[in-house]
Amino acid sequence: MVAARTRVLADAGPFASLRSVIAGIVEESAPDAEMLLDVGSGTGQYTAACLDRLPAAYGVGIDLSKVCARSTARAHPRLAGIVADAWSRLPLAGESVDTLISVFSPRNVDDFARVLRGGGRLVVAAPETGHLRELIEPMGMLRVGEDKYDALRTSTAHAFAEVSSQIVTYRSDVGESAIADLVGMGPSAFHLSSDEICSRARSLAGSSTVPVTIAVRATVLRRR
Ligand SMILES: C[S@@+](CC[C@H](N)C(=O)[O-])C[C@H]1O[C@@H](n2cnc3c(N)ncnc32)[C@H](O)[C@@H]1O
Repeated sequence: MVAARTRVLADAGPFASLRSVIAGIVEESAPDAEMLLDVGSGTGQYTAACLDRLPAAYGVGIDLSKVCARSTARAHPRLAGIVADAWSRLPLAGESVDTLISVFSPRNVDDFARVLRGGGRLVVAAPETGHLRELIEPMGMLRVGEDKYDALRTSTAHAFAEVSSQIVTYRSDVGESAIADLVGMGPSAFHLSSDEICSRARSLAGSSTVPVTIAVRATVLRRR
């Protein structure tokens, strides 16, 4: 899953533009940030892209998976990786973080509020209905639930005020191997064998490419 995610987020991969837009949003929302935290950091590529734009900042990525934490630590010279459970108390001091990013990852809103300093930013990226929609039926992927944005607003309102929210959407032409990676990097990979994923990707793309919709909402919230 980590290898597939690394390729999808790489410069030539279908999420390269998304990674770049999210890094731009983080930079714009807190250009003076010195400490970034990424909870559920995966490969660490989102935080690495943010750090490239914030030369004075350091980053910490937390992930439940040892493989992901190691990958995060290797993603940028100013980025560290920690193995920890986002649903427990995060291993960081209170009010020690300027900007916290949560990209397709679990959100422990109360502890996010504890580690962020007053006025600090929480940047949440979550899939919208329609994300990867061309792959859902043919590849047997899990559907994105409705009303995720409402759920985010409701669950954060006690500690955060919304600064901005935008849907990042574009289409990317992907071939057989990128389709297999888009499936293999996410939860849908748990119920399909890798042979099954490859065979379905081959049937869908053949020797050509298919356009796939990327639709992600990026919301910036300010710690009250
Ligand atoms: C869908 S991936 C997103 C990874 C990365 N943010 C990205 O978008 O490329 C979700 C990540 O959250 C991590 N994760 C899941 N549950 C977690 C938990 N309870 N605590 C910390 N990390 C967790 C997974 O290991 C995985 O790396």
